[in-house]
This record gives sequence, structure tokens and C-alpha cells, in this order.
Amino acid sequence: MKKGERIFFIVTGVLAVLATASTLWRTLGREEPRQIKDYYEWSDAAIRGYEIYKQMGCKNCHKALRMGESGVAPVLDGEGTRRNKDWLTDYFHNPLTWVTDSAHAGGMAPDFRELEEKDRELLIEFMRALKSNPGSSNYPRPPEGR
Ligand code: HEC
Repeated sequence: MKKGERIFFIVTGVLAVLATASTLWRTLGREEPRQIKDYYEWSDAAIRGYEIYKQMGCKNCHKALRMGESGVAPVLDGEGTRRNKDWLTDYFHNPLTWVTDSAHAGGMAPDFRELEEKDRELLIEFMRALKSNPGSSNYPRPPEGR
């Protein structure tokens, strides 16, 4: 090998090593920010609403705060992002406003039309505390006609 060739190979080799090292450095050094998918905005009313939620056995059908049943009824984590206060107020006064044959209007689930106004307000505040971010499976998807 000529001297010139040797220098050429050494320089190319050094450059290749440097390029690999810098790529590795950037890849390994970059820490993905951990995405928070569901989160909660607690207020006094929301905490009291959660107490009622527990007393009334809502978790026997629903999942919220990552606890309870899923499959029977919608997951309620993210409910406060998916639904606004008007929707929830209407639904808790008369579920039939939004859902024909609602389980919550004389079906197997507690009849929201029979709730005391105070309890209804607290439950609504609990629902509004259950938030989600994009990336969560509980983040709103296009409406299904209701
Ligand atoms: C026996 C099962 C059952 C129980 C217990 C139950 N639910 Fe439900 N819930 C359902 C079903 C089924 C739906 C689906 C929509 C409908 O039928 O109105 C639903 C829907 C909902 C929705 C609307 C979700 C949405 O965004 O579409 C809310 C809010 C809700 N329930 C809150 C509650 C609360 C609060 C309690 C306790 C007081 C409770 N549920 C107890 C079965 C249940």
C-alpha cells in the first residue's frame, strides 16, 4: 500500500468511527418523555363525587382510575375530556337525551333520573375530573352518532 493510500484509509476509518459514535450518542442520550395518558383534575366536589361513585357500586360495570370492570360498560377514565359539562348534565338528568334504551334509565344500571340533585352534581364533577391526553385509548375518537 502506498503512503497516500494508507492515510486515505486511516482518515476514512476515523470518520466512520466518529459518525457511528455520534449517532449512538444521540440515540442513547435522547430520553423519550414519558407520556401521561390519563390524568385527574381533582376538586373537593370531585372527591366527594368519587365517594358516591364507590358507594353506588359504579365500578361493578365501569372502569375508572384504572380500577373496576371493563367490557360491560364504557371506561370512564377520560370521560371529562370526551364529554363536556352540558353533555354530562343532560345525561345525568335524563340519559335518554343521548342514549336510546340507556341502561341508566330504568335498565340494569342505577337510574340517573332518580338521583338527588346534590349527588348528581357531585357525580358530574367526578366525571369531569377524569381526563385524558392524545395517545390514550380513552382520548375522544370520532363520535358514533351520539
Ligand atoms: C349494571 C352496569 C352499570 C352500573 C352499575 C353503572 N353503569 Fe354507567 N353505564 C352502563 C352502560 C351499559 C352504559 C352505556 C350507555 C348507556 O346505556 O346509557 C353506561 C354509561 C355511563 C356513562 C356515559 C358514558 C359515555 O361517555 O357514554 C356514564 C357517565 C356512567 N355510565 C356513569 C355511571 C355512574 C356514575 C355509575 C354509578 C352511579 C354507573 N355508571 C353505574 C352500565 C352501568
